[in-house]
Amino acid sequence: MTINNPYFDQNVLVTGGAGFIGSNLSRRLVDLGANVTIVDSLIPDYGGNIFNLQGYEKKLSLNIADIRDPYSMNYLVQGKKFLFNLAGQISHTDSMKNPYVDLEINVTSQLSILEACRIYNPDIRIIFASTRQIYGIPQYLPVNEQHPIRPVDVNGINKYTAEQYFLLYNRIYNIAVTVLRLTNVFGPRMRIKDARQTFIGWWIRQIIDGQKLKIFGDGLQLRDFNYIDDVVEALLTVGTNYKAFGNTYNLGSNPISLKDLAELMIKINGFGNYELEPFPPERKVIDIGSFFADYSKIKSELFWEPKTDLKIGLEETILYYRKYLEYYL
Ligand SMILES: NC(=O)c1ccc[n+]([C@@H]2O[C@H](COP(=O)([O-])OP(=O)(O)OC[C@H]3O[C@@H](n4cnc5c(N)ncnc54)[C@H](O)[C@@H]3O)[C@@H](O)[C@H]2O)c1
Repeated sequence: MTINNPYFDQNVLVTGGAGFIGSNLSRRLVDLGANVTIVDSLIPDYGGNIFNLQGYEKKLSLNIADIRDPYSMNYLVQGKKFLFNLAGQISHTDSMKNPYVDLEINVTSQLSILEACRIYNPDIRIIFASTRQIYGIPQYLPVNEQHPIRPVDVNGINKYTAEQYFLLYNRIYNIAVTVLRLTNVFGPRMRIKDARQTFIGWWIRQIIDGQKLKIFGDGLQLRDFNYIDDVVEALLTVGTNYKAFGNTYNLGSNPISLKDLAELMIKINGFGNYELEPFPPERKVIDIGSFFADYSKIKSELFWEPKTDLKIGLEETILYYRKYLEYYL
């Protein structure tokens, strides 16, 4: 192990490693010399995609398994130094249609992963990916980690419940856990087939296809976006920083309105247009209005901040999908 590269030759387990964030992280870990094991069920409705691991298939170990199977997890956590726990059901609307599936994947499985670690590998270092959705409709902006938790959907409740299990196991069993609350992440290897993962993926698909973007509401709602490379950097940073153990951090960036985002994407693409539309009822009830996170805690404690300019991140993303579109349809 080198001083500058704490991941070199370390055994790392990435759940959800064929998905958007997990695959980008796994590729980076392989480049850092880590021995990466992925567990991913590749359920078609989620973001897992074998193509995300293209070029790395022989450099890592991929287990097509479901985190809902405790026997697999009991085995897979053994001998690992790090667990990046990214597997999840991430669609907010799906969580309302199928709340029990969301509960199984985002809560019950998370508890069995923790039990597997407690029994078979209590020295493992765990990084859990949570979401800004737990805060619900912001009572103030930017939203810091002390903001009240009032989820507007089943997914938000379940992700928060899982967070609490991870932090409990840190307090009671001293398992080294960090919770990262991610905001909207975008970049290469995200799902663009539909709006299940994030609307920005769907917009990228539409803009490449020459379709009109639809913005729900007045387009003035604010959002913050993190480019995938910055999120991978945050995951790697908290993974090896003792200060982060038992802690929860928001990620975030400078906010932009959806209208301005659409205009920027159209400009980068060179053509396209957009229109404002009323919210469909199933989206209106779980909409949170404007949101952007206060990420000053992770900035001051761990020196992480987003480095990628939104325009550059969008250019990279659009280029990627122009080149590899067929693998994401
Ligand atoms: N992308 C974002 O903007 C965003 C924002 C906030 C939080 N997050 C969180 O980050 C994590 C990763 O999200 P992502 O954007 O990479 O999503 P993703 O859907 O691309 O990746 C999740 C992966 O988990 C896998 N998975 C789902 N259920 C599984 C199961 N039962 N067993 C094994 N594998 C399973 C999927 O196949 C997929 O590959 C999730 O926990 C999500 O809640 C993401």
